[in-house]
Amino acid sequence: MDTSTVTRSPTIKNDEPGALLTALEEAQGASEYKYLSEETMRSIAESHGEPLSRVYSVATFYSYFNLNPQGKHTIVVCRGTACHTRGSLGLLREAAARLGFPDFREDEEPSFTTDDKQFTVRTVACFGQCALAPVVSIDGTIYSRVTQGKLISILDGLKKGAAK
Ligand code: FES
Repeated sequence: MDTSTVTRSPTIKNDEPGALLTALEEAQGASEYKYLSEETMRSIAESHGEPLSRVYSVATFYSYFNLNPQGKHTIVVCRGTACHTRGSLGLLREAAARLGFPDFREDEEPSFTTDDKQFTVRTVACFGQCALAPVVSIDGTIYSRVTQGKLISILDGLKKGAAK
């Protein structure tokens, strides 16, 4: 069976363990806004001979996969106990307010993405770096003992870069 239209990899065989995960990973990586649209998941389901429900359940099981368009920059604020007690809620609120989502509530939505698709902000339960709390990841780089001033400075730098 040919999966090249979805996976873009001639080396992947459908019966290999992890082929579905690999196809999802590659499809997300190839997507401009780093997410899996319903159309993409349908296509993967067809090419792998799997029901759409299975593809959907795999995509929703792993937090790595996004079902909504993602911003160019990803900010992940740790909301674990150690980070919370050291001010991570204030960091989350600061980021949300500065990016135009002052009413963002983590208990209502897992994340938000700015309309210009420059920023996605989400939370994580723990980065496993509690001694460095509060911890924020920005575009995959871990920042430790983040203060509001430090976060504002990083955000302003990214915004300036986005405006160029
Ligand atoms: S609670 Fe934030 S890194 Fe563990």
